[in-house]
Amino acid sequence: MTLKPQYEADEDFLLPQEVIEGIQCLHSTVPDEAAALIEYFNATFVSGQLRHSDEPGVIIPVHLCRTPPVFPPEKWNMFLAASYYTTRMGFERYAYKGLETGSRDVCYHVIKQNKILFVLASALNPGNEEMGRHLVTHGDGVKDIAFSVEDLDAIMKLCEINCLALMSVVLQRAKERGAKVVKEIWEEEDEGGRVRFARVQTYGDTTHTFVERGNYNGLFLPGFKKTLIAVDKILTKLPTIKLDFIDHIVGNQPNLEMESTAAWYEKHLMFHRFWSVDDTQVHTQYSSLRSIVVSNWEETIKMPINEPAPGKKKSQIQEYVDYYGGAGVQHIALNTQDIIQEVQKLRERGVEFLVVPDTYYDQLREKLKSSKVRIAEDMDVLQKEKILVDYDDNGYLLQIFTKNMQDRPTVFLEVIQRRNFSGFGAGNFKALFEAIELDQAARGNL
Ligand SMILES: [Fe+2]
Repeated sequence: MTLKPQYEADEDFLLPQEVIEGIQCLHSTVPDEAAALIEYFNATFVSGQLRHSDEPGVIIPVHLCRTPPVFPPEKWNMFLAASYYTTRMGFERYAYKGLETGSRDVCYHVIKQNKILFVLASALNPGNEEMGRHLVTHGDGVKDIAFSVEDLDAIMKLCEINCLALMSVVLQRAKERGAKVVKEIWEEEDEGGRVRFARVQTYGDTTHTFVERGNYNGLFLPGFKKTLIAVDKILTKLPTIKLDFIDHIVGNQPNLEMESTAAWYEKHLMFHRFWSVDDTQVHTQYSSLRSIVVSNWEETIKMPINEPAPGKKKSQIQEYVDYYGGAGVQHIALNTQDIIQEVQKLRERGVEFLVVPDTYYDQLREKLKSSKVRIAEDMDVLQKEKILVDYDDNGYLLQIFTKNMQDRPTVFLEVIQRRNFSGFGAGNFKALFEAIELDQAARGNL
């Protein structure tokens, strides 16, 4: 669907509803030796298979009916995205909600890796205004960040609220402080139990969904079933990836909107400021950045909020805002216990990371001589894998950033390992900026 505008001028490009005619045309034109391949493609992706039917009352001795294809054209886009994250990043297909499960408007693929859950969604029908507008404006991106109510235990204690009333009170407090409620409390249930939800607006078009699971014991959420897609055989040949949980999610803001966004989290969700840097600390010769990290009471959720600061040329934060069409999620950091091993395996799976120059490691070795901290990992291996290091006297973090996960220079991922260090790589922002600026220059946006 995101490719549609690009291909509208191409008369050979077929929209999903035209694909059946396209396949029929191929059937009549390909040589005989390719017929089996076309039939496989037709059965799997386009029209489905012809099967014998034992429908009662059918008089003719052999009755054939079509079974739906495994991946019909309406789903190709999601299928490709889910396939990318499973083959490249090591996620597993975990749950599914779509036409086959009774979801008539939106199709969802849930992919999972340990505690990390991404839900990839596409509109099933033409004219879905909400999802269509989001896609045209922002391209592929993060539309919603969901918080389990368990993560808001501290608010519950703070307000001396009993557990059953938590959902109403969290929403009520957000509303009282002027948060825009996108969707009032609603409930969904299936054989696994009942789940309550509510959704509020945060920066840009991004939303937060509160999820109160209670005693729900289904697979994921009501209406979701085990994925219908067979295990991709190629995955059995690839090294297993072990990324454990979401460490932080960064939101980029237009210039001078960071402060009000951080204040939104303080006011509406009772988050506090955990960490910050300003443009005097983080800048290159071209661009600079200001950042405030907000966190919940228990500090299990970390949300860095960035804004560009005026520089000699266009800041990479400004480039994001221009291409995303406003504020939005810039990157999701995934925590691991062994970054070297995981990055090596991700590279084997074809993930591309940003490259920092070797001079970064020359300077790092020099600076570490005067620090009390000792990096356990082999510096030569860190340099070979282009993994960045930030530290203080008590601990350190190792981190690396993927290239953008889609065509627009917007969302990317980070892999991070922490050793007694809760900062966000301020010492690396300059190196990160310089690495991004190399790519930015290649895109003609610096
Ligand atoms: Fe990060």
